[in-house]
Amino acid sequence: MRLSDNFGRKINYLRLSVTDRCNMRCVYCMPAGGIDKLSHTEILSYEQFLLIARAAVSLGVEKIRVTGGEPLVRHGIVPFLEQLGQLTGLKQLVLTTNGVKLSGMAQALKDAGVQRLNISLDSLQPEMFSQLTRKNLLREVLNGIDAAEKIGLTYKINMVVMRGRNDQEILDFAALTKSRSCTVRFIEYMPALKQQGWRSLVVPSAEVLQQLQQHYILEPVDRGGLAGPAREFALAGAQGRIGVIDPLSGHFCRDCNRIRITASGQVRTCLFSDNEFDLQPLLKLNNVEKLALQLKELVSDKPACHALNSSGSEHSAFSMAQIGG
Ligand code: 5AD
Ligand code: SF4
Repeated sequence: MRLSDNFGRKINYLRLSVTDRCNMRCVYCMPAGGIDKLSHTEILSYEQFLLIARAAVSLGVEKIRVTGGEPLVRHGIVPFLEQLGQLTGLKQLVLTTNGVKLSGMAQALKDAGVQRLNISLDSLQPEMFSQLTRKNLLREVLNGIDAAEKIGLTYKINMVVMRGRNDQEILDFAALTKSRSCTVRFIEYMPALKQQGWRSLVVPSAEVLQQLQQHYILEPVDRGGLAGPAREFALAGAQGRIGVIDPLSGHFCRDCNRIRITASGQVRTCLFSDNEFDLQPLLKLNNVEKLALQLKELVSDKPACHALNSSGSEHSAFSMAQIGG
């Protein structure tokens, strides 16, 4: 049995948001007042996430990303990752983190079988970092990145580019790849929270690439079959790579290969659609085959594309911390 949707997209990538809690408050992710947190009883147990993962892997899912909120704030995350990593058929286990707790956990994550990290970092300037995350934790994040580098845990740095905020730092971020073998990815700002005037914050990926091309020769890099919708390049002479992700201006949806499970067990087949399916009743049956059948049915109904560029999106405002970015 294989997972594909009605538009012929092969779905081989599952994202598990294991918590909606976070130790930062990024402006593009959370409103100033924070979000209504799920109660502990609403959040799936690790056993339930493992059941879902098993069902998904039985359908041909080969890559699992654990995300949040901030996954490293959930108690017991390391043994959970270890169990995920042992699933037969899974080829890639990866994790998204904001890096705050990483320096003390990098080795344990590597030992648990995490193959790669995506680390969120939007500014290298302490003041801008604090403005964007509403926390004064740049040092901790940089220490976390250094720890990953030191132990040879592969990582990507994700920077959400916002006009008038951190767009002056595009070249500084690209320069990180000169001496480090990491990938730095520039992400177009997405209007998850539907703030007024959000369009003026979006810096199209084409503009980022143009800016980089004034200073570097960019060599396109072909990526493997499990890769998401990022386009990647190597800067001539650099060790690492840069990439762009363009949910607004690019072919993000055409290449979409993923489904998401929220911390409370909702299946979300498209980030920008309110459609959610609650897996909790089915999870009570403890039956992997039934779960797999349900996932298959949900995936076939995955929408073709979001509507952010047409009449305006239909989705309700949400925080990435609730869906898993
Ligand atoms: N726009 C773009 N990316 C976002 N993320 C979260 N919210 C947004 C948004 N509004 C991504 C960032 C962050 C990760 C957790 O999710 O890359 O680092
Ligand atoms: Fe936390 Fe990530 Fe949201 Fe920032 S983007 S508040 S680090 S979940």
